[in-house]
Amino acid sequence: MLEEANVSGDGTVLEKKVQERDLLSLMIKSSMSTTTPDDQKMSVPQILDQIPTFLIAGHETTSTATAWGLFALAQRPAMQSRLRQELLEAFPDEDGEVTIESLNALPYLEAVVRETLRYHSPVGWIEREAEEDDVIPLDHEFIGRDGKARKHIRVKKGDNFIIPTGIMNRSQDVWGPDADEFNPDRWLVEMPAAVSKIPGVWANLMTFIGGQRSCIGFKFAVLEMKVLLLQLIRSFEFELAVDPADIIDVELIVSRPFVKYELEKGSQLPMIVRPVRQT
Ligand code: HEM
Repeated sequence: MLEEANVSGDGTVLEKKVQERDLLSLMIKSSMSTTTPDDQKMSVPQILDQIPTFLIAGHETTSTATAWGLFALAQRPAMQSRLRQELLEAFPDEDGEVTIESLNALPYLEAVVRETLRYHSPVGWIEREAEEDDVIPLDHEFIGRDGKARKHIRVKKGDNFIIPTGIMNRSQDVWGPDADEFNPDRWLVEMPAAVSKIPGVWANLMTFIGGQRSCIGFKFAVLEMKVLLLQLIRSFEFELAVDPADIIDVELIVSRPFVKYELEKGSQLPMIVRPVRQT
């Protein structure tokens, strides 16, 4: 990653030779550039602050989402077999070439990934701060603390908001009466009109949120999930080793599966994993 780059304890770059193209190296390179204006450069402490973001945003979210996908499929053997059949038909040879285009051409894989990211949003809520006074119009009236009905919310600059992304992904007003069911087929038929109003950056879901600070890694995350599911579902059958009711969702920045009577063991998802029978 870094070649002969040497950063002292107080963050000063002592040696300035960075060659690779990974994200961290590119950021260090740009901070040392002599052509980038100073006000557009990140300081070394700012760069170091990005590292937890890469780890949490980029890794834990995708691996946890994939685990929840396996949790959903392990409880629904018919869906798991249907996905396996699609994967085996498209990629019968374990050593055969897999391209982004060929993975993206599989409708049921796409539907399973979308439904996993809708039903089990790894990030359950997001915080935002109002940059200016505003009035937010609402679809539904609510009764204020003063007993009056209102169809808007007044906000002041500096007010904090919680955007309940997980709840929005399962709202019956948006997704219809079966919003609380795991059903990949919903993505293969016409969606309720309300779905198109959700301003998510991907698939009208709030999972990666929307707007200027939405997730920059969503395409990578979706592709990574597809590759993981291809390798896992093509080769193994997954069955839950515990009662699904004993798996609970514990929010530690990312919503993770825990066994409710073994919380001290940390996040886990016990499975019986069998090699797929060759016919
Ligand atoms: C299923 C996987 C993922 C989910 C659900 C997810 C979700 C999110 C969400 C909700 C945010 C907004 C956070 C906030 O503003 O408080 C975010 C931001 C971010 N994500 Fe992801 N993410 C995923 C995968 C990835 C991957 C794979 C990468 C990198 C390759 C990544 C990089 C980032 C970065 C750098 C930000 C900060 C963007 C900014 O503040 O401008 N994420 N992600």
